[in-house]
This record gives sequence, structure tokens and C-alpha cells, in this order.
Amino acid sequence: EPKKLWGGRFSGKTDPLMEAFNESIHFDRRMYDADITGSQAYVKALHQQAILTKDEQDILIRGLELVRQEWKDNKFQLKPGDEDIHTANERRLGELVGPVAGKLHTGRSRNDQVATDMRLWLREEGRRLLGFLCELIQSITTRAQSDIDILMPGYTHLQRAQPIRWSHLLMSYAFWFKDDAERLTQLLARTNRLPLGSGALAGNPFRVSRSFLAKELGFDSVLPNSLFGVSDRDFVAEFLNWGTMTMMHISRLAEDLILYSSAEFGFVTLADAYTTGSSLMPQKKNPDSLELLRGKAGRVFGGMAGFLMSYKGVPSTYNKDLQEDKEPMFDVADTLSGSLQIAAAVILTLTVHKNKMQAALTDDMLATDLADYLVRKGVPFRETHHISGSAVRLAEQKGCQLSHLSLTELKSLHPSFDADVADVWNFERSVEHRASIGGTSKATVQQQIDQVNTWLRGA
Ligand code: ARG
Repeated sequence: EPKKLWGGRFSGKTDPLMEAFNESIHFDRRMYDADITGSQAYVKALHQQAILTKDEQDILIRGLELVRQEWKDNKFQLKPGDEDIHTANERRLGELVGPVAGKLHTGRSRNDQVATDMRLWLREEGRRLLGFLCELIQSITTRAQSDIDILMPGYTHLQRAQPIRWSHLLMSYAFWFKDDAERLTQLLARTNRLPLGSGALAGNPFRVSRSFLAKELGFDSVLPNSLFGVSDRDFVAEFLNWGTMTMMHISRLAEDLILYSSAEFGFVTLADAYTTGSSLMPQKKNPDSLELLRGKAGRVFGGMAGFLMSYKGVPSTYNKDLQEDKEPMFDVADTLSGSLQIAAAVILTLTVHKNKMQAALTDDMLATDLADYLVRKGVPFRETHHISGSAVRLAEQKGCQLSHLSLTELKSLHPSFDADVADVWNFERSVEHRASIGGTSKATVQQQIDQVNTWLRGA
């Protein structure tokens, strides 16, 4: 029967069922590196306060390094009673360096330890995810640049609305993801603050230098209240929320591309690498990558909602409910890591069917341009909207395209129509007219691409 870290006051044994229910080692082992790094810094802080001699400090730091190496080499042997990563590492350290290991936890609690480990872990993981997010944005701007001349129907309510540049659509996603990147950067800054030295809740009784700890561990600042230090998991909630928002954007992008890759649209074809076939229907090529991106969004939203529900009722400081923070954090990180990389790859390898997009443009999508034509002749827009609507109805009645109405027919709707109305029937012209900032003209889409590329270089 292994001795429990906290076993002193207990005479009765833990029910094995409870043991299994309580343990977190099978998931928090992922933080072994952070846990050891945090402990090594703490050892130094204890030495500064003469709780540890120089020799003891060196022994503990070296011992912890051996433990880290065992994890790295996949040689760390878990034992019954290794409740979590903190107890496992301390138990192993004791086996390696002897009783001096018992001094490591002086003035520290697993409460400030676990909060520290999580912040260290998320800081590293967050930086990796930010890299993937920037690569996704990069893949979008690359594609937008090379495809800038391709026009397509823009939709509202999934009904053909106005012609746009395909690049313009792509860039709309780039701006969402840029906001996501900024959110991630901001939450990582709030994450990067030090809880260690908060003790269990009331603070550290050995006057360890928390500024030293912060510096040693690369934190930007020290959390200024020990209760806040051990209690706060807002950084997890914010991270899950970031994952939620980002997946929502990925999911909407996926939905667009799933529609566009159907034969009914036929605008894009996914590379074989990101599709799968059917076990029954030989002709099928299914956009599974995109469907998974869309589907996994739900999983991430669930992780966030689940954690917030666990978190909302927790009284001050540490309560075991908080152990429920790690699995969603890991799962959301893993899901985002995969999703961001797949989304980038899908976009870079898509085939775009320019002619199909072009062919889907219909004259009625220029009805607004027809109204705008009369506006330029001085007719109020509310009137021109109505007149253009009548023209659409007339064309419908005649069973012809809007552009095929004769000048006489148009003049019967309003005397200001003239021969130059012929210029309206040009999709390129329509798109080029939208040249205010944010519009779909070539120059203003180029501005968007340049803006995001400049931002990427600084990110
Ligand atoms: N395994 C725990 C967790 O993940 C570590 C903190 C335990 N602290 C405690 N007071 N029991 O939250």
C-alpha cells in the first residue's frame, strides 16, 4: 500500500472506486514538463530563503531533471497511488534522491502548483496554435492573391445576390481568423501571470520571492491575490471560448466549401488527399475533411459549455470541481491543432472551377446595378429600386434575361434609360464599381490582402 501524500490524518483506506474516480494522472501527465519546470524554479526560491542548502537545491534540481528525462524517454513508471502529475513526480523524485525530496513542497500546495502548471502548459500550446492559425490565414491570402481575377455569385439567404470576387469571400474568413489570432494573443497575455507562491489559498509563509519565480518561469507578472491565484480558471474559460469562436469560423468556412463542392454548385473540387470514398458507391468523393471541421465545432462548444457549468458554482479558492478544467482544455487544444492544419491544407490544395463560377452569374444579379444606373442619372434610389424591380418582373414575364429587354421596354419603365444602359450588363464592371474600402473591386480586395499580409509579417 503506497503512502499517500496527504495520508497523515487518515486511518481508513480509500475505496478503490474512489481512487479511480479521483485520479487525474491519466490526463494531467501531459503537463509533466511544466510541473518539473515549476518545481525547479520553486527549489531555487526555497534556497534563496535558506529553506534548502545549496547542496540540497542542486540535488533536487538534478533529480527533477532525471524525472523529466524518464518522461521524455517514455520510461516513467506509474505506480498505484500516483494520483496526479504532482504526486507522481514528487514520489519519483523521492525514489531518486531520498528524503530531501520531502523538502520540495515546503509552503507550496498542489493548488498553486496545478494553476502554475496549467498556465505554463497553455502558454506553450497557445503559441503553437497561434502559429497554425497564422498559417491558415497565410494560406487564405496566398489563395486570394492567385485567384484575384475569379468572379462568382455572392449569396444572401443562399440566393444569388450580387457578383463578387472569390478572393473577396476568402478574405472575409481571413479577417475572422485575424480577430481569432488577436483574441488568442490577448488571452495568452492574461494566462502568462504567476500563481505560484499563493500556497493553498492564503499565501506563502516562507517569503519566497514571487517576482523571482515569475522571472525564472517567464511569466509577465505575479497574480496579486493568492485567493485569486488558486481560484482563477478564467484563462481556461477564455481559451475554450477562443476555441469555440475559431471553430465556429472554421465550421462556416467548411459549410461554404461543402456546398460549393457539390455538383449542384460545382465551384470547387477538393484534393484527393482531403476526401474519402464510399464503401458502396464507386463514384463518390466525399468532403470528409470539411465535414469533420464542421462537426468538431460542436465538440469544442460542448467542452466550453461543460467547463463553464462546472466552474460557475465553485466557492472561493480550490475545490475539486476544478480538476474538470483539464480535459476540455486538452481536447480543445488537440481539436484546434488538427482543425487549423487541415483547414489550411484544404484551402491551399482546392481546385477552383473558374468557368463554373462565372457561369453561375446571371443578369438578374445586376438588378442593383440597373437601379444604380438610374441613380447616376439623378433618380432617387427608392424609385430606381422599384423601377429595376419592374424590369426584373417584365423579363420574367417575357421569359428573357434582364439584359435582353429592349431600350424601348426600359424607357417605358423610366424615360432616363438611354443607350449607355448596355454598359450595365457586365459583371466585371459591377464588381469594379464596389471600390470603397472593403468592397469587392480588384483594388480594394488587393488592399485587404496587403493589409493582412502586413499584419502577418508582424504577428
Ligand atoms: N489533480 C488536481 C487537479 O487537477 C491537483 C490539485 C489538487 N489539489 C487538492 N487540493 N486536492 O485539480
